[in-house]
Order: sequence, then structure tokens, then C-alpha cells
Amino acid sequence: MLANTLSISLTLSLLLPIGLTADTSLSNDIVGCREASCPSSNGNYHCTVGQNNFTDVGLARIPDVPSPLNGLSWVKGVSVEDKGRIDKSEQNRQIKSTYYLGTPSNLNTTSLNGCAVFFHDALSKQFQQPKSLTSNGTDRANTTDIPASYGTCPDVIDQRCIDALQKRAQDVARNGTSCTALFQDLRRSSLDECSALTRTGLGNFTVTPLNESAPLTQSRNSSSDCWPVLPKSDNLTQITDHTVMTNGTATALTSQLYKITPILTVFFPANGSNSLVDSPSSQLTCLKAVHAEDLDADDADENSASLLSSNLLGGILVAALVSMI
Ligand SMILES: *[C@@H]1O[C@H](CO)[C@@H](O)[C@H](O)[C@H]1NC(C)=O
Ligand SMILES: *[C@@H]1O[C@H](CO)[C@@H](O)[C@H](O)[C@H]1NC(C)=O
Ligand SMILES: *[C@@H]1O[C@H](CO)[C@@H](O)[C@H](O)[C@H]1NC(C)=O
Ligand SMILES: *[C@@H]1O[C@H](CO)[C@@H](O)[C@H](O)[C@H]1NC(C)=O
Ligand SMILES: *[C@@H]1O[C@H](CO)[C@@H](O)[C@H](O)[C@H]1NC(C)=O
Ligand SMILES: *[C@@H]1O[C@H](CO)[C@@H](O)[C@H](O)[C@H]1NC(C)=O
Ligand SMILES: *[C@@H]1O[C@H](CO)[C@@H](O)[C@H](O)[C@H]1NC(C)=O
Ligand SMILES: *[C@@H]1O[C@H](CO)[C@@H](O)[C@H](O)[C@H]1NC(C)=O
Ligand SMILES: *[C@@H]1O[C@H](CO)[C@@H](O)[C@H](O)[C@H]1NC(C)=O
Ligand SMILES: *[C@@H]1O[C@H](CO)[C@@H](O)[C@H](O)[C@H]1NC(C)=O
Ligand SMILES: *[C@@H]1O[C@H](CO)[C@@H](O)[C@H](O)[C@H]1NC(C)=O
Repeated sequence: MLANTLSISLTLSLLLPIGLTADTSLSNDIVGCREASCPSSNGNYHCTVGQNNFTDVGLARIPDVPSPLNGLSWVKGVSVEDKGRIDKSEQNRQIKSTYYLGTPSNLNTTSLNGCAVFFHDALSKQFQQPKSLTSNGTDRANTTDIPASYGTCPDVIDQRCIDALQKRAQDVARNGTSCTALFQDLRRSSLDECSALTRTGLGNFTVTPLNESAPLTQSRNSSSDCWPVLPKSDNLTQITDHTVMTNGTATALTSQLYKITPILTVFFPANGSNSLVDSPSSQLTCLKAVHAEDLDADDADENSASLLSSNLLGGILVAALVSMI
């Protein structure tokens, strides 16, 4: 069903004459490797982009953008590396999140004038869907399947906080086009509306300009086997990455790999004729990696709960999860 919807929408977008605005909707608020057609082996997806071999990816559109920016996406790829002894209690697992901006192929990225704010700390709330299922398919007492979960910012962030962040960013952007100024302003101003965003208000965040890197070249060579964006003709530009260390317990790994990262995108008007926006514009996108198994794989174990058959973390997480359940 999902695959059918996807192929229909891909076909439609191929049939659309250039110049018409294509339907940019995705099959879910955030889609993962299954929808983005990552390669899979033994029922597990991976996605290798340049130097990064992601265990999972997440792709979401930036909501409510001015029409010249329609179809812009954020993509998050996550990978985990074992940096020490196989001791679950040590902080020796390195989890790296890499963020890409996806742009429609007709958008000239050199005229993208703006910044992105990445909120790295765990949010106070989780997405509620989908519910975690037991192996016989019944609902496991209202717990969410965190790796598979998805949603939008209003599901997990107070609307007053979303509004306050967007307004603050626009106010700063009206005064100039500096990402440093935006960082300093957000650090100084304690947005009361966002005091419950993370355990420590806005928590740790970084601000990165959108125009510092060139788009990746979409060549499928020996070091890349995946292009985690839809439609496939979109360009991808790596904006930043962020690394945290965690211990090897299933809870810690799952909550870091599949945590929600709010991204505040701010667009400045540029001088001259090729400015994409007339006035400062800012949007909050909630992004996470979304885990799914490749159900089409011959050897996928259909009966196991989503993560159990996955060799996602080289068996470590599997063992940890099995011992947890
Ligand atoms: C393969 O593509 C990646 C990015 O798509 C690039 O960084 C890398 O240099 C390319 N490798 C070769 C051998 O062309
Ligand atoms: C990436 O990881 C997957 C699964 O862990 C593996 O099958 C694949 O060969 C890896 N790709 C590269 C280029 O290392
Ligand atoms: C692992 O990390 C989690 C989250 O930081 C923490 O709650 C837990 O106590 C740690 N477990 C061990 C065994 O160190
Ligand atoms: C994008 O815009 C820049 C400056 O406006 C221009 O130099 C460049 O040729 C454009 N690139 C494409 C692919 O149109
Ligand atoms: C499914 O499994 C749960 C526990 O794993 C059990 O409580 C429930 O009775 C089972 N339901 C059916 C229909 O077998
Ligand atoms: C599950 O959630 C529903 C709605 O939030 C609630 O009414 C119900 O009591 C919950 N069930 C359990 C077992 O927690
Ligand atoms: C914008 O600049 C004015 C004048 O320098 C200053 O008073 C105001 O606080 C600034 N606003 C923001 C949001 O930085
Ligand atoms: C990138 O954007 C910043 C902030 O808007 C601007 O000051 C800078 O000139 C831009 N750099 C390039 C290379 O376009
Ligand atoms: C913020 O990041 C710093 C360094 O990256 C880290 O030491 C600190 O614990 C982080 N704060 C929180 C609340 O996670
Ligand atoms: C998309 O990326 C390719 C390089 O892979 C570049 O040649 C092309 O100009 C980019 N398109 C736009 C509109 O920037
Ligand atoms: C934009 O144009 C105004 C007036 O034309 C000028 O004062 C300002 O410095 C320009 N800003 C940039 C970033 O070029």
C-alpha cells in the first residue's frame, strides 16, 4: 500500500511538466529508509552517503515555507560507532547525526540566504505513534515504538514555544543577516515559552549558515549507495553534524539514535533581484531517524518485533534488547 502510494506519486511527479509546482507531500510527516529506497541486506536498510554509513535516516519537509521555497526538506542520517570495549555501562558508543538540506532541483542554492538552529538535547516529550506491538501483534500497553515513531513539532512542543522561537528568529533577522547574532540572541534570551523544551530550556544548540557548503554530487560511486531524499532529483547539501557519546545499553542507544531534533530554519531576504524571500521567514521542523525493516526482503523475519532481527548495531543492540525484553 505504502509502496503503491509512493510509486504513484513518483510517477505523477515525473509526468508533471517542468514549471508546474509538484505535489511535495510525503507519505508521512517523517519518512525513513523504506520510503527513501535505501539499499537493504538481510531485511536491514543502510544508507551510505560519502564517508557516512547511516543505520537509519529521516526525511521531513520544512512546513509553511513561502512558495519560492516550497519542497525544501531536512534529512538526518544516524550512525553508531563502537569506540571501546564491549562494556554496556561505559560511555564508549559514538553516535553521529548528520544533517542535510534537501532542495528541489530548480532551486539555485547560492541564493539561499539563512541559518539553521539545531537543538541537540532530548525533548521532554516523545511522538506517540506508532504504538509498540508485541510479537503477536497486540498493543504493548500504550508504549510507543520509539525507533519507528514520527510526528510534527506541535505533537511534542508547546505551540507557544514554536511561535516564540519563530518570532524571535524573525526579529533578529530583521536586524541583519548574521547567524552568530542569532546564536547569541537565543543564548541570551531565556524564552519563557520554551522553558520545558528540554530539561534545561533550549538546551544545547548550534547555529550553522545554509550557504557554506556546495550541494553533493549525485554520483553513485563506490563510496555512496544512497540518496536519502524525495523526489530523487532533489539536491542535498550537508549542513552540519553532531556527535554524542553514550553507553551501550539499549535504552541509551535507542533514545540517542532516534531522538527528535528540532531545527529552526531562518531565511533572510538578500539584496538584489534573486532574493527568494521578501521578508525574514522562519520555520521549526522536528526531525528524527525513522526505523523500519525491509518487509520485501526474502529473508526478513516477519515475526520479530521491529528491532529484534536487525543487526543494526553489529549485534550489540540486539543482544541488549533481547536481554531487556
Ligand atoms: C563519491 O561520491 C562522494 C559523494 O557523493 C564523494 O565525496 C566522493 O569523493 C566520490 N568518490 C569518488 C571516488 O569519486
Ligand atoms: C554499511 O552498513 C551496512 C550494514 O551494517 C553494510 O551491509 C554495508 O556494506 C555498509 N556499507 C559500507 C560502504 O560500508
Ligand atoms: C546508560 O545511560 C543512560 C542514559 O544516559 C543512563 O540512564 C543509564 O543509567 C546508563 N546505564 C549504565 C549501565 O551506565
Ligand atoms: C546560481 O546563482 C548564482 C548567482 O546568482 C549564479 O552565479 C549561478 O550560475 C547560478 N547557478 C545555477 C546552477 O543556476
Ligand atoms: C499476545 O501477547 C501478550 C503478551 O505478550 C499476551 O498478554 C496476550 O494475551 C497475547 N494475545 C493473544 C491474542 O495471543
Ligand atoms: C492507553 O491510553 C489510553 C488513551 O491515552 C488510556 O485511556 C488507557 O487507559 C491507556 N491504557 C493503559 C493500559 O495504560
Ligand atoms: C535590533 O536592533 C535594534 C537597534 O540596534 C535593537 O534595539 C533591537 O533590540 C534589536 N532587536 C533584536 C531582536 O535583536
Ligand atoms: C552566506 O550568508 C551570510 C549570512 O546571510 C552572508 O553574510 C554571506 O555573505 C553568505 N556567503 C556567501 C558565500 O554567499
Ligand atoms: C551540552 O554540551 C556540552 C558539550 O558539548 C556538554 O558538556 C553538556 O553536558 C551538554 N549539556 C546538556 C544539558 O546535555
Ligand atoms: C544540484 O547539484 C548539482 C551537482 O550535483 C549541480 O550541478 C546543480 O547545479 C545543482 N542544482 C542547483 C539548482 O543548484
Ligand atoms: C543591502 O542594500 C542596502 C542598501 O541598498 C545596504 O545598505 C546593505 O549594506 C546591503 N546589504 C548587504 C548584505 O549587502
